Amino acid sequence: MTRIAISTGGGDAPGLNAVIRAATLSALARGWEVLGIARGYEGLLDTSRIRRLDRRAVRGIAHLGGTILGTTNKGHPFEYPVAGAGGKTRLVDRSGEVMASYRELGIDALIAIGGDGSMRIAQRFIELGMKVVGVPKTIDNDLEGTVVTFGFDTAVTVATEAIDRLHSTAEAHRRVFCVEVMGRYAGWIALHAGIAGGADVILIPEIPFDLASVCAKIRAREDAGRHFSIVVVAEGATPRGGELVTRAEREAGREVRLGGIGERVASAIAEATGKETRTVVLGHLQRGGTPTPRDRILALRFGAAAVRTIADGTFGVMVALDPPAVRTVPITDAIKRMKSVPLDGDTVMTARDMGLCLGD
Ligand code: F6P
Repeated sequence: MTRIAISTGGGDAPGLNAVIRAATLSALARGWEVLGIARGYEGLLDTSRIRRLDRRAVRGIAHLGGTILGTTNKGHPFEYPVAGAGGKTRLVDRSGEVMASYRELGIDALIAIGGDGSMRIAQRFIELGMKVVGVPKTIDNDLEGTVVTFGFDTAVTVATEAIDRLHSTAEAHRRVFCVEVMGRYAGWIALHAGIAGGADVILIPEIPFDLASVCAKIRAREDAGRHFSIVVVAEGATPRGGELVTRAEREAGREVRLGGIGERVASAIAEATGKETRTVVLGHLQRGGTPTPRDRILALRFGAAAVRTIADGTFGVMVALDPPAVRTVPITDAIKRMKSVPLDGDTVMTARDMGLCLGD
């Protein structure tokens, strides 16, 4: 009998449970056995929490946010942080233990649901002999090889609704609102939510911004009798010649935490224009809760496609949306580089044509 395992790694994204459901049902329908690995690759270091997924385990979960398997963005198995002497953390390679568990459990293939970090780890395990099919997940939409990742539509929906709501209070008080959104080093969420929500300024990492041009836009609106403005700031946006704003020191074995640029932009606007300015940081609201129907359908399609891929005997690939089809791409292609917002793409052109300020 074929025995597959499913893991969810990295930051959660709405739609993870839909992938788990579709993959499990598709596998069970073929008479396969399905194991749910707890908390990404960590679950293969502590196999006591691995459980069988049956129909009951995946009943009624497609609309739920989070992941029934749990996830983590700590504990890279090749660079696993271990507390050492004097409070210092050392990084230890525990990939051998993961491979041993994979073999002992008799897993024929792993469906690894994750973003770029998880796909990079998957590729290293593929090189050690693991049979992996990847499923692209991230609210950031920054993964190459797929037109879109699931989770992105929900994040854009949440951010758009927030921008919609801020319009009335901004107008009532004649204020400037800086709305900081997630997205790491890519501006997909900011650009899409900013355009959909009718923002006046959108600052994305792909276009280092000039504060003078942001303030000029706000002043032009004042002159035109529009006494409020909405500025959407991607967490990875930087001023021309400036640095990324981060929340804390980088922890060993973890990505640096971004955040704080919204407040910096707001203070600078207040100082330069004299306008009363407020900041809203949407943070993890963009990741929590129910996936939109669009994300749910994409996630369900990805889950079923991952099982078909295993059934075909194809490994080392990631399922990907190539409209109208779901196809596969080598994981090596997906991790070659980050998918940034193309500056010559029609979404950026739409923003410019409509007179939005992109900070340049
Ligand atoms: O990659 C998804 C994401 O939400 C990013 O947009 C954000 O920078 C990061 O994860 C936040 O990570 P954490 O949940 O560890 O704070």
